[in-house]
Amino acid sequence: MDEVTIKVRESGPYLVRGKVTLIDADGNQHTVEGENFVLCRCGGSQTKPFCDGSHRENGFCATERAVLASESA
Ligand code: FES
Repeated sequence: MDEVTIKVRESGPYLVRGKVTLIDADGNQHTVEGENFVLCRCGGSQTKPFCDGSHRENGFCATERAVLASESA
């Protein structure tokens, strides 16, 4: 299995690198062209679950960082 990475972009989408199957809440599978795509994190995209760049216009601001497992205990 190839490695998959997900990068949280500063006040932007999740950048997914690697081959994955994306399944929505209704069980529909999305075909993703190429091996890189971005998932909306702001809720404003018209092409959810994918980012359409709307976060740049809607004032989305998210600067939080993931809590490491060693810090959450
Ligand atoms: S994160 Fe880009 S449109 Fe929502």
